[in-house]
Amino acid sequence: MQFLMGIDIGTSGTKTAIFDFAGKLLASHTENYPMYQPRNGYAEQDADDWWNASVTGIRATLAAIGGRAEEIAGVGLSGQMHGLVMLDKQGTVLRRPIIWCDQRTAEECAEITSLVGKERLIEITANPALTGFTASKILWVRKHEPQIFEQCAHILLPKDYIRYCLTGEFATEVSDASGMQLLDIAKRRWSDEVLDRLSIEKSLLGTVYESPEITGKITAAAAALTGLCEGTPVVGGAGDNAAAAVGAGVVKNGTAFTTIGTSGVVFAHTDQMAVDPLGRVHTFCCAVPGAWHAMGVTQAAGLSRQWFQEQFCAADETAAKSEGRGVYELFDEALAAIPIGANRLFYLPYLMGERTPHLDPNARGVFFGLSAMHTRHDLLRAVTEGVSFSLRDCIEILREMGIHSNEMVACGGGANSALWRQMLSDLFGCGVKVAASTEGAALGAALLAGTGAGVYESVPDACEQVVRYHNGTSPNAENALAYEKHYEFYKGLYPALAGEFQKLSKL
Ligand code: XUL
Repeated sequence: MQFLMGIDIGTSGTKTAIFDFAGKLLASHTENYPMYQPRNGYAEQDADDWWNASVTGIRATLAAIGGRAEEIAGVGLSGQMHGLVMLDKQGTVLRRPIIWCDQRTAEECAEITSLVGKERLIEITANPALTGFTASKILWVRKHEPQIFEQCAHILLPKDYIRYCLTGEFATEVSDASGMQLLDIAKRRWSDEVLDRLSIEKSLLGTVYESPEITGKITAAAAALTGLCEGTPVVGGAGDNAAAAVGAGVVKNGTAFTTIGTSGVVFAHTDQMAVDPLGRVHTFCCAVPGAWHAMGVTQAAGLSRQWFQEQFCAADETAAKSEGRGVYELFDEALAAIPIGANRLFYLPYLMGERTPHLDPNARGVFFGLSAMHTRHDLLRAVTEGVSFSLRDCIEILREMGIHSNEMVACGGGANSALWRQMLSDLFGCGVKVAASTEGAALGAALLAGTGAGVYESVPDACEQVVRYHNGTSPNAENALAYEKHYEFYKGLYPALAGEFQKLSKL
């Protein structure tokens, strides 16, 4: 045997990838599918889309390595967290899964808080009741669709549904289960207390494993459909961020990564469980057995840039095309010519409300300090700085919790910009580097498979053998001082506007 497979069930698509034991990418296939928004604030996907995309991806990547399925030592799963998949006794999906960014459950969150108690809930699940998490979705279906809830025999997370299709097992693992709000995060097992208070039967939930543990084997039926060999082990895997951490080598104290994808994440590994008593960052079990991570989320990070560029920067697209270069190179150049602080212009990146640090679904985006002298590039620089200030907010809370990191791995689309990497380094006051592999969560899932299959001794050993970095950046002392002054100002803007956001939501 010489290969490992990682499957990442994302929101825009499923990526399947095959690596050799040294982490070299041999084949990769991404299959996209839609998200359904039947009402404002609702977000659902089709479980068949996830399964069909997995089957297509497995077949395509196996074909790319000459069909040598017998060389696959193990399969690891990663996926979007928090989604609710409900199955009946026969294993048939009962309704479209409600996914992580769905916001319909504010009432159910209030119910959960009053049934368990705000402090007790944070003590056990390490998080306040959140609309995105699975528990409130279960309560919503029970209240609004009792005929569906009555038939429900199994509750699974998105990637764990794919596990069921591949192995016939109803199972999950600690990192993804942490985002259901039903797990005792310290003890790494279902919380009888929370389940009792919410009147949810434990028998509905899957068996909880550690991420590298083998949870089942490919069945004859799944082998016939996918081309994998019957009996190939499937390990627990991890929620997308925990899997990305493994792919980025963030598996030891003092290590952290930041992703600027649609949302932005600052994720720090910790061997000692640490919880923010105010619930402003998530504390979850991580993919390293016996360890945790704390994670702050900026809802609209890359989204802020994308939104601004699409709405206001068509001229740059045209200019880049006529000059025969990439638009991001042009932006980096234009933004580098503008001083720190964007000529006294600030941007609050709350286009989609905010999780860290404000936990405010009603917050909205703001430009503060606009003058007639500002160009669209000043605005774009302010957007880039505003997103970075928001990621710094995440770091401040992690530091308050005693979690410090001397270096940060930058992942996601934003990591490609040298300007943004330097900005993060200056603002975070630490080195920033980029993982050589861009496969992130799929690589992490494959490394977990390799650990479960005995290729590597442990998750940190897998990372040691495979993960490499480039583009190291160190903070510039002069820039750091200038950013600090502007960050202090930025911090004052949300408190000044918090009441106005509430009024705006009712206007
Ligand atoms: C994590 C979160 C997202 C989803 C989708 O809390 O909501 O990262 O897992 O990517």
